[in-house]
Amino acid sequence: CKPFMLTYMLLHIEPEEVRSAAIKRLLEVFGMEDPPAVHGHKQPPQYMLDLYNTVADVDGVTKDPYLLEGNTVRSFFDKLHSEQVEFRFNLSTVARTEKVLTAELHLFKLRPQVTLTSSRHHFCQVSVYQLLDSSRTNGTQGKKLLSSRLVPVHSTGWEVFTITQAVRSWMQDEGSNLGLHVVVRTLGGSQVDLKLIRFASGRHHHQSKQPMLVLFTDDGRRSAKLQSPSKICVSFIAISTSILPQIPMSASPSRSARSLDHIDEEGRLKPCQRLPLYVDFEEIGWSGWIVSPRGYNAYHCKGSCSFPLGQNMRPTNHATVQSIINALKLIRGIQTPCCVPDKLFSINLLYFDDDENVVLKQYNDMVAGSCGCH
Ligand SMILES: *[C@@H]1O[C@H](CO)[C@@H](O)[C@H](O)[C@H]1NC(C)=O
Ligand SMILES: *[C@@H]1O[C@H](CO)[C@@H](O)[C@H](O)[C@H]1NC(C)=O
Repeated sequence: CKPFMLTYMLLHIEPEEVRSAAIKRLLEVFGMEDPPAVHGHKQPPQYMLDLYNTVADVDGVTKDPYLLEGNTVRSFFDKLHSEQVEFRFNLSTVARTEKVLTAELHLFKLRPQVTLTSSRHHFCQVSVYQLLDSSRTNGTQGKKLLSSRLVPVHSTGWEVFTITQAVRSWMQDEGSNLGLHVVVRTLGGSQVDLKLIRFASGRHHHQSKQPMLVLFTDDGRRSAKLQSPSKICVSFIAISTSILPQIPMSASPSRSARSLDHIDEEGRLKPCQRLPLYVDFEEIGWSGWIVSPRGYNAYHCKGSCSFPLGQNMRPTNHATVQSIINALKLIRGIQTPCCVPDKLFSINLLYFDDDENVVLKQYNDMVAGSCGCH
């Protein structure tokens, strides 16, 4: 219902102030104050594209609402580009109010460089440490073990380590974020030649293999309660009644006829139904920072809710009684019930934030799944 009104405003109301106010309000629906800066973007991480395609269909509508625990997934590239196996991620774009559910370090393991026929090792112990502030550990560079696992020496591909604790502490105190250090040891505990177990770095390897931090959070935004938009309904009825006498009685596919597709051949309002409403991000000017989708069908609800209300109009008992009172004209000024969304679906957006990180966010109540008389 909200996107319908806003798109309607954007397309039909000319003054610039109104347009910018509407765009601002639409940004708020998407949880932002300003549109992210567009830098001429990199390729989004494959992991984020795959995640998006798992969670959402082509239109961005959530396929499985229980797949993600929270409603936000953020990816960050390493900022350090160190020669050592050290990484640092800038988390300044994460809102303080976001609840960190899980944080993962994704490292791409490369093929071993040396001929392994000479090597006795089949597995190595890979440990990820959080670097601690030396002033708090009496001068020595302290580190805290976050995650440790055996990794086959011959393997190649992504290795994922859970580092939730460290990210939670960095969120509490930004200054404590000194980064992560990865140590590889043999099963006997001795340090391993870095030619044997190598991870791709942001400095020397292709962008698609860059070290990455993936953060699963919840921003705490809950769906607004379904409200009965009685004013909108009443004014809509008033407008359509006032234009009724001018309707050409033809099935001509002209623009004006099409925009009146809620009216049947005899000039009566069609019963309450769900009709398409495409929200086009390119038209709104957002295609620069939104990766996917290009737009989505929000649908809208249109039509009459007059007596008798069939079950296909999914009336509430209250709506049924109201339609009867309206039909019998028992009490003056009682309108017919409203044709409104009675089931709403969430959509997903994959976008670049201000710092060129790719973010996946889920927004509740964005698509009318069905309409009913309420
Ligand atoms: C993190 O990024 C923000 C915005 O890009 C920047 O202002 C800040 O200085 C960065 N912090 C560090 C520690 O690099
Ligand atoms: C630092 O040193 C002080 C005194 O030398 C000692 O009491 C304290 O426990 C030390 N802290 C740590 C974290 O080692």
